[in-house]
Amino acid sequence: SQPSILSGKKVLLTAGPTREAIDPVRYITNHSSGKMGYALATAAAKAGAEVTLISGPTNLPDPKGVTTVRINTALEMQAAVMERVDESDVFIGSAAVADYRPASVAEQKIKKTQDKDDMTIELVKNPDIIAGVAGCTNKPFTVGFAAETNDVAQYAQSKLERKNLDMIVANDVSRKDIGFNSDQNEVTVFWPNGHQALPNLAKGTLAETLISLIEKRLSETTQ
Ligand code: C5P
Repeated sequence: SQPSILSGKKVLLTAGPTREAIDPVRYITNHSSGKMGYALATAAAKAGAEVTLISGPTNLPDPKGVTTVRINTALEMQAAVMERVDESDVFIGSAAVADYRPASVAEQKIKKTQDKDDMTIELVKNPDIIAGVAGCTNKPFTVGFAAETNDVAQYAQSKLERKNLDMIVANDVSRKDIGFNSDQNEVTVFWPNGHQALPNLAKGTLAETLISLIEKRLSETTQ
């Protein structure tokens, strides 16, 4: 087989959900399994890249041949990413980062009140990690994901532009058979001036296809 353009290159990925503490025993999170990001990390390592995976809490084992860094919160994920972004050639943001976190973390377990039937938790916006990466002076080839329930192509393309990404992988999460916790996924990939719809594939096969597409775009955009 041909030597990969990714051979010896540094690939940084995020995967899984983030976990945002409310108090010492409670948190806000989402249903991301991390499967897609872990499969991408494995595929990038197989292509000869030096891979670092910044992972939120998942039930998956660390991928073989990959440096895996475990974090919990979006702020921890951002710090772990920004620490390594300068030396990275490719960044893939497959994590489902919580958009908001509790404004403050209670030091003690929040007690149920007897006199009130409602309670409010104030949330503040988390930083957009991938937009931060794409805003760096020494920006790596930056790949994002877009999970949409409607107007997938339109939202994906505007996200590509708004976040200054080099590629975006869009999937329709309104479909129960694919995406999030599934072992299969069917996506369309967008880049400036092009797109490609991929068939429904097992996440491992899809990851290898996406890594090939990244290699192709890399060889077309770097001389
Ligand atoms: O804007 P939206 O969350 O739909 O964008 C999804 C893409 O942005 C994914 O690649 C995701 O990993 C990344 N993202 C991020 N930091 C956030 C929110 C999303 O890196 N706070």
